[in-house]
Amino acid sequence: MRIAVGCDHTAVALKQELIAFVEELGFSVRDFGVESGASCHYPEIAEPVCRAVAAGECALGLLICGTGVGMSLAANKVTGIRCAVCSESYSAEMTRRHNDANVLAVGARVVGSEVAKRIVQAFLSTPFEGGRHQTRVDMIMDMEKRSREGTL
Ligand code: RB5
Repeated sequence: MRIAVGCDHTAVALKQELIAFVEELGFSVRDFGVESGASCHYPEIAEPVCRAVAAGECALGLLICGTGVGMSLAANKVTGIRCAVCSESYSAEMTRRHNDANVLAVGARVVGSEVAKRIVQAFLSTPFEGGRHQTRVDMIMDMEKRSREGTL
């Protein structure tokens, strides 16, 4: 299973650490940058990561910025993406189990690297439960469709 990973300038070191961790867990990684601490714009990274997930080129995505919030806001503008920003592993587990989230956002200025690893591990190792949760996810995706059509 391949994971799309990207960060902005606030999270280069954490991205490298999480990529190594994700690979240790047995996943392959497609790294969308950035590699430098020079100021950049997080939507420019969120978009290609999410397009790779939405296109099925990568199964799941991981985005890291200072808070995780900017990345999650940008990610959720991409059709087919359900991104959750998580600062602890319970939410990361439940957003896979109940929301079928396909992108995780993490804040490098919010959590330390060991907590970030637990969050990522929970996200990557938890399946979607389906059932009644599928009905609710379908409702979210219907909202996305109506928004695109201008009827929401
Ligand atoms: C960059 O300063 C910061 O705004 C960004 O990393 C992120 O936290 C935005 O949500």
